[in-house]
Amino acid sequence: MKEYTIQSIVRVFGWDELAAEDRLLIEAAKNATSGSYAPYSGFCVGAAARLQNGTVVIGSNQENVAYPSGLCAERTTLFAANAQYPDQPVVSLAIAARNKEGFVARPITPCGACRQVISGVEQRYGHPICILLYGTDGTHVIDSIDALLPLQFSDSYMK
Ligand code: THU
Repeated sequence: MKEYTIQSIVRVFGWDELAAEDRLLIEAAKNATSGSYAPYSGFCVGAAARLQNGTVVIGSNQENVAYPSGLCAERTTLFAANAQYPDQPVVSLAIAARNKEGFVARPITPCGACRQVISGVEQRYGHPICILLYGTDGTHVIDSIDALLPLQFSDSYMK
């Protein structure tokens, strides 16, 4: 039997330790929560994607009375970015969430389906996406979806 270990690195930054462009992207994600439609969960999630040319595209969770038909903030954002700027790699994705008490202290992490979509976007453009998970206690920074979705499927397995 052989065994191997998979390591994920998450760096936690205080607000003042973040690069200015990352702070701006997080602010965009926080502002994007105002476009959330979350009458069922009451949980408003915003995301902001920065593209290689500097454009910022925002999105938010959009719920539906038929619950599974809704979509998370990460996917509304990435699909909007790819639909409007198909030639532009996504380089960073910030995510912020608030409940009725305000922005959460502990950052949320993308659900499994969103991780798969982030993986697909990285593969499509051949570019890692830096993921910024905002919480009032700190921002967790992950350099690529590899850390959140180890052993992900890619077309390299089919060759
Ligand atoms: N949600 C997101 O938009 N992103 C996440 O990373 C986790 C969950 C949304 C889905 C649903 O509208 C609400 O948050 C509660 O799960």
